[in-house]
Amino acid sequence: MSRSILLPLLADGEFRSGQDLADALGVSRTAVWKQLNKLATETGLVVDSVKGRGYRIPGGVDLLDPEQVKAALSAEAASLLSSLVLLESVDSTNAEALRRAGEGPAAGLVCCAEQQTAGRGRRGRHWVSPFAGNLYLSLVWEFDQGAAALEGLSLAVGVGIARALDRLELPPVQLKWPNDILHEGAKLGGVLLEMTGDAAGACQVVVGVGLNVAMPQAAGDAIDQAWTDVRTLAGSTHPGRNKLLAALLDELLPLVAGFQSSGFAPWRESWQTMDAFSGEEVVLHTGPQQLAGVARGVDERGALLLETGQGVQTVYGGEISLRSAT
Ligand code: BTN
Repeated sequence: MSRSILLPLLADGEFRSGQDLADALGVSRTAVWKQLNKLATETGLVVDSVKGRGYRIPGGVDLLDPEQVKAALSAEAASLLSSLVLLESVDSTNAEALRRAGEGPAAGLVCCAEQQTAGRGRRGRHWVSPFAGNLYLSLVWEFDQGAAALEGLSLAVGVGIARALDRLELPPVQLKWPNDILHEGAKLGGVLLEMTGDAAGACQVVVGVGLNVAMPQAAGDAIDQAWTDVRTLAGSTHPGRNKLLAALLDELLPLVAGFQSSGFAPWRESWQTMDAFSGEEVVLHTGPQQLAGVARGVDERGALLLETGQGVQTVYGGEISLRSAT
């Protein structure tokens, strides 16, 4: 018996008797009990068992449904999507998308998962990815002019994510160079680009997006920085993960499809209006080196403009933090 059959039966948060579940699945009540224990262990979900009432997942679980997501897509996004793969659990959706991209043409492939066991963040960090709590998605696109044509793509993706959230009438978010999505200084999401193929020619790019939606407190406790989630921003108007995923794909599919010809330039102004650190005193960390200055936005390639005692420097890589916080 697979959890993909059992979970939807309990997704609404209501009690279902052990006998009902056993009948629905054609197995014994003992088998149901064993499967539910396994499910709770593997997913971290709480499964209540109450004598005389049966089993329930308190609060229910907001499962992803690829058919709902596809039905909600704009005509343009639907025409660019080649395949939407939903995995219950995977090491990393970026790793999975790279594996699939390695097997052949994959432009428009989207891999998402309910849970990542080895979610990847920038700079080798772990991305906390509890089951059915957040969104983890990786979108593959093909480019034929190598890495140079991708400059600024991760910043543009940040703008796309912000527009998707805006479209769902969520409070405005801010962007932190190079690719963090913040709300009032707390991290809501991040972008990780990975590529395979010829760095100077034909290559496939995986755009990985992690968006905190309803992070369980226990999982959030493992994050070493201030974080927030869509549920906190939205309160009772929380749109649900399927609508969120559709809104993200509506923005991101046309964005990646047009990026090779558009480049970052048309995204720059929007990025700057959401720049969390504009005019702030920051410290840039690149490996062991640190450089202090005032953040002055980004150039048309997405590089950070940092005003230092030696003038405005153009920075292509690294991480910034507010000077007062370091
Ligand atoms: C960051 O460090 O801010 C980037 C985080 C990117 C996380 C996403 S979740 C989906 C995709 N799969 C991964 O393993 N990482 C990205």
